Amino acid sequence: MELANAKLRIEQLTNTLKDHNYRYYVLAEPIISDFEFDQIIKELEHLELQFPQFADPNSPTKKVGGSVSEGFITVKHQRPMLSLANSYNEEELREFDDRICKATGLSAIEYVCELKIDGLAISVFYENGKLVQAITRGDGIQGDDVTENVKTIRSLTHTLSGNYPEKFEMRGEIFMHRKGFDRLNEQRKAAGEAEYANPRNVASGSLKTKDTAEVAKRPLDIYLYYLLEDEGRFQNHAESLDAAKSWGLKIAETSKVCNGIDQVLAFLHEWDEKRHDLSFDTDGVVIKVNNKNLQEELGFTAKTPRWAIAYKFQTETATTKLLGITYQVGRTGAITPVAELQPVALLGTTVKRASLHNANEMQRLDVRIGDMVFVEKGGEIIPKIVGIDFSQRALDLQPETYITHCPECQTELVRAEGEAQHYCPNDQLCPPQVVGKIEHFVGRKAMDIQSIGSEMAETLYRNNLVKTAADLYDLTFEQLIQLDRMGEKSANNIIDGIQASKQQPFERVLFAMGIRYIGETVAKKLVAAFLTIEALMAASVEDMLAVDEIGDRIAQTLFQTLQNPRIVQEIERFKSAGLRFETQKIEKASEKLAGKIFVISGIFENYSRDELKDLVENNGGKMASGITSKTNFLIAGNGVGPSKLEKAQQLGVTFLSEDALINMIQE
Ligand code: IVH
Repeated sequence: MELANAKLRIEQLTNTLKDHNYRYYVLAEPIISDFEFDQIIKELEHLELQFPQFADPNSPTKKVGGSVSEGFITVKHQRPMLSLANSYNEEELREFDDRICKATGLSAIEYVCELKIDGLAISVFYENGKLVQAITRGDGIQGDDVTENVKTIRSLTHTLSGNYPEKFEMRGEIFMHRKGFDRLNEQRKAAGEAEYANPRNVASGSLKTKDTAEVAKRPLDIYLYYLLEDEGRFQNHAESLDAAKSWGLKIAETSKVCNGIDQVLAFLHEWDEKRHDLSFDTDGVVIKVNNKNLQEELGFTAKTPRWAIAYKFQTETATTKLLGITYQVGRTGAITPVAELQPVALLGTTVKRASLHNANEMQRLDVRIGDMVFVEKGGEIIPKIVGIDFSQRALDLQPETYITHCPECQTELVRAEGEAQHYCPNDQLCPPQVVGKIEHFVGRKAMDIQSIGSEMAETLYRNNLVKTAADLYDLTFEQLIQLDRMGEKSANNIIDGIQASKQQPFERVLFAMGIRYIGETVAKKLVAAFLTIEALMAASVEDMLAVDEIGDRIAQTLFQTLQNPRIVQEIERFKSAGLRFETQKIEKASEKLAGKIFVISGIFENYSRDELKDLVENNGGKMASGITSKTNFLIAGNGVGPSKLEKAQQLGVTFLSEDALINMIQE
């Protein structure tokens, strides 16, 4: 890296980290994960090592984050309150163990493993058995005196019992159980106040509240995990925790003495599973050398003890090399940049590709081909890249420039103001968009032509047989049978499926047309309001806006689409093929179901449960919630509960599909 670039990047990272520290410690509103924070720290550390001349003397790499808040008395810590080095995988833990073995000349170390509670660090002082002071971590050197607030925590004893030292300090973590957190948020929601993001933030915010009575209402809890006393009473850490427990202090029961690193790893595996059953959040495990003499021998770096390390549970992250970036064109024309990765194992599958979402995200990550990247499986099925291992970046990697033209049809891409995604505007001719439209048209929730799947849609398109959905209805058996690997049976199935689709109701046809923003629900609402395609095509934007759930964006888009000559022609072709473009309004307000009792269960294809209930009631029927001997009909959708099914069968209740119900009313 050039000097000027290095200087700039160091400044950038330093400022970013200071900002994140401020958000985390002062505002208690972090906007990035610990993992992401650590990645930035690592990059900065790496650069500072290469270019020490540019390092900020107050660099976040040299300090424990945090600062003191206004409004509390600031107190200097008797002993600095340090942070812990983080590790994210077994390899890093084994390195930690190797370092310690080497430094101490021992072949196996005794460790204590403790859950790392996700709360905020506190230092409490006891004198002659009385709680006298509580101080937050602050910047590690000095913190806020929050004694009065901490005294409201019920699980923290004010008076010790047993054989306690005359004077001692103990460190621990204040946190909130998830139940208490949920309850608090419910109250806030009911009062119209903003909800808190997570239990950690509330715990931290609570302690910084000036109103002690208010703090007392918060269900805070505490675990103590580190005793500091001058008498030298204890040979090891585990012993000191047991003693503190006997004096009445709250110590986590989950801690365990482990002999050697393999037992430590077993503890991690055990808790990576079991942590989900805990009533509070834990984000990892803290591993501490048990023996106090060894602790002393190992000592501290500027920021952290050398005898302890935190292991962070992973949201399943893997590291791998970025081999290239490709661009995918979706059915709607949206462009998605995709990372092509060196295959890597992640949660039992092999990952070769990950989404980079859009140009902004690529810029934010500053991702370059050749980088080692961190891949994570979040809620989505497609993994995503969450960070770059800058410490491994080769000096000659080039920043990625986003494409300007569609990789499929070479049309210039557009990006609407305020939108993150680039689009290919060539929706009528761009191949993936056209194939996508056909796939959507035959889809299960649209025309439901099951004999045509994604591959067949692609084949029909590539062989020039189907360029638009309306072409499907001109397909012949002779055309199909000429295709590679096409048998008579399959060809017939396709023709039959296409024929049968002509019976699909108007709302499905409208949805199948794949007009932007016209989803299933919107299509139903439109059909219910306009009844025929002619009425819909004659409708003004205002007419459309009058329909429930139709907003400006939908109305404008739909109106314009229905004016498009290509679409008008397509509709004409559909009509001559015999597709349904009108619906009969379901007869409401009859007495056809009078005296009958209905129960509804399951999920339905065409109507919501509420719509079906309304239908029953508008036609004189009665809805009941449970099946009894009085029940006449069970309106059964997909996934009716087994106990309901059995009971209905026992009592001889008649089963009705949604279509059967509608027939009953329309008869
Ligand atoms: S020991 C010198 N033990 O994690 C020893 N810390 O990332 C320092 N934490 O500042 C801390 N559970 O706020 C320790 N069982 C545990 C912990 C724990 C949570 C927090 C603590 C610390 C931070 C370091």
